[in-house]
Amino acid sequence: MPDDVICAHENGVRNALDAGWKILERGGTALDAIEAAVMVMEEDDTFDAGRGSFLTSDGTVEMDALIMDGATLRAGGVGGVQHVRSAIKLSRLVLEKSPHVYFVGEGAERFAEEHGMQLIDNKELVIDREVNRLRELKAKLAAGGKDTTFSGGQDDIHPAEMSSHDTVGALALDVHGNIAGATSTGGTLNKDPGRVGDSSLIGCGCYADNASAAASCTGWGEPIMKLVLAKSAADEVARGKDPQSAARAAIASLKTRLNGHGGIILLDAQGRYGIAHNTPRMAWGVRSAEGAQVGIKR
Ligand code: GLY
Repeated sequence: MPDDVICAHENGVRNALDAGWKILERGGTALDAIEAAVMVMEEDDTFDAGRGSFLTSDGTVEMDALIMDGATLRAGGVGGVQHVRSAIKLSRLVLEKSPHVYFVGEGAERFAEEHGMQLIDNKELVIDREVNRLRELKAKLAAGGKDTTFSGGQDDIHPAEMSSHDTVGALALDVHGNIAGATSTGGTLNKDPGRVGDSSLIGCGCYADNASAAASCTGWGEPIMKLVLAKSAADEVARGKDPQSAARAAIASLKTRLNGHGGIILLDAQGRYGIAHNTPRMAWGVRSAEGAQVGIKR
């Protein structure tokens, strides 16, 4: 995260906290709170979610999202959606209205339309900043070929993978004692069309279970998926680790096992939380009855 966007990230996180807290303080559910918080960040083009997402190599936005209820383990996920304004809203619809858990592409959008969500032109999600970012990366790749690391194999780090993470997530504990988690993303810059990352896969980029913890991840999706990072970290909480230690351990294993980079937030049903990342910066925020805290480094 370059210096010139720190302020926008802090503001975006603050706005998301406000939206979620408004629901929690009047006795609303954790699910409603995280949906509202993530929708605020999807609408804010600072982040890689909703409008302003990183672009695929075709220059389009393809979004993935998951929402999960820790009380019941109900979940709703979507992958590769291109024509909805909010992927997390569609995920919530899947959680509430479908016997299925996960929809992709056209089927997801048909489900959206059938349940009253308006479909939009993909161009509404594409902003100039991202068109330029993609153009610059492509020019760099064309000029330098490999740009030192890229060879196309799964274990090689694409230069875009190193710089393109801004996935959003939210976790909440409500007055009923339930926790929930949500993650939404446009994925990685210059990804091949059809690529789905960790964010919408249960247990990878998002998870919630009152019996362990809720978790949301950001970062390079492929290593996070291989380690099923969100569920692994939540399981550590169930085994007795406090959420901060579990978050640190998850990010340490991401680095040591697969040279991955990213961040995780964790929250248990007692309200204990953890925040960890191995990127130089990650925007985070916490809101409780004691007030709000927002930061960039942890
Ligand atoms: N963590 C987001 C992605 O890799 O798609």
